[in-house]
Amino acid sequence: MKNYNSEYRKKTRTSAKIFARSLKLHVHGVSHNIRFYEPYPFVVKSSRGKNLVDVDNNKYTDYWMGHWSLILGHGPKNVKESLKKQIDKSWMYGTVNEQTIKLSELISKAVPVAEKIRYVTSGTEATMYAVRLARSVTGRKIIAKIDGGWHGYTSDLLKSVNWPFTESESSGITNEEEIISIPYNNLEGSLKILKKYAKNLAGVIIEPVLGGGGCIPASKEYLKGIQEFIHKNKSLFILDEIVTGFRFRYGCLYPTMKLDPDIVTLGKIVGGGMAIGVMCGKKEIMEYADTARKKKSERSYVGGGTFSANPVSMVSGYAMLSHLKSKKSVYSKINSLGEFARKEIRNVFDGKVVVTGKGSLFMTHFLKDGITEITNAVQAARCDGVMLAKYHFKMIANNGIFFLPGKLGAISDTHSKDDIKKIVLASEDF
Ligand SMILES: Cc1ncc(COP(=O)(O)O)c(C=O)c1O
Repeated sequence: MKNYNSEYRKKTRTSAKIFARSLKLHVHGVSHNIRFYEPYPFVVKSSRGKNLVDVDNNKYTDYWMGHWSLILGHGPKNVKESLKKQIDKSWMYGTVNEQTIKLSELISKAVPVAEKIRYVTSGTEATMYAVRLARSVTGRKIIAKIDGGWHGYTSDLLKSVNWPFTESESSGITNEEEIISIPYNNLEGSLKILKKYAKNLAGVIIEPVLGGGGCIPASKEYLKGIQEFIHKNKSLFILDEIVTGFRFRYGCLYPTMKLDPDIVTLGKIVGGGMAIGVMCGKKEIMEYADTARKKKSERSYVGGGTFSANPVSMVSGYAMLSHLKSKKSVYSKINSLGEFARKEIRNVFDGKVVVTGKGSLFMTHFLKDGITEITNAVQAARCDGVMLAKYHFKMIANNGIFFLPGKLGAISDTHSKDDIKKIVLASEDF
């Protein structure tokens, strides 16, 4: 196998120097573990449209797209103009502002379950609060998540994220026994576990497309079956649509499957590229967060944060959603580019890969160990992750194409069929 390191090092000399400074100051040189890759990540100086430009002036067609948040590409004009206007007025009030209400009016129309909303500044906070809310409402403690489910860094959900899906991802986590995990797309196996914990089960949190766990859509039957059990058991159904919300259509994915979640978390796209987390849900559940109406022993203290609902994130999210609402053709375009990418990449590798995904999200899995299909994170984890990282790194070093090594790719409105064809050529070369 060709070593692409020397080509990479040659073209990223300035990045190497700057990253050496970063290593002195930041743990492993980064502030988000996944942003590091060997030998060192290139350092970005600017981005526009589909491209990232590094400090050595290399241009990369980007499929990481700001942790998959930039569905209109980098710096879309309407978001930029709205932000400029807001910055002119000021960027931090710490008080009620109409920008928030305008964004909520858009979200509540597009996401029927969003009868009440609370904003935070990251997806992690949104899922952390969703868990707390579920515990408050039910008076129970146990939260079930999916093997391979990723909901951010909250201590409440930092278990069973990576192979072998049995441990916490970190020390320092208390009450680990209150986080249990169930096998994705395996209704019988999941119900068996849920039934065991039913009496103390506060809720189940699920991504309708497993993102970090391998870009794997859940089947409708699976989600419906889980939902039925949860509701019979008087637990809460939390759908984490932080990746999937506004990614495949204007709104969430759950209405397309006729699901009835109690709480939905959003983030990424709805912030238009600015920091955001959204927790929303049915009125009677969200109202447990109402400190004016509930005693401490009954309420759930959720939401808030110095920068919650700051006007910059609100304006940016509003501009993003308004654009998507008025130009729904964005979705047909990027969804069909995703379909094209999955088909063409699969053809190149001729049976040696499975390309998972949905709409504009896709991920290539190099098969091994007799794995032939990928419907859960266990199968994804048993594929050749080293090969995937090499494949992505080769594209960075040789082809000016950027996937965060090992992660799924997200297509934006700024990508074209020719861009996907370039991935296909790079794959043939690999
Ligand atoms: C499904 C899902 N939930 C929650 C999060 C956490 O969001 P954030 O990184 O904004 O804290 C992520 C982040 O990638 C995610 O993919």
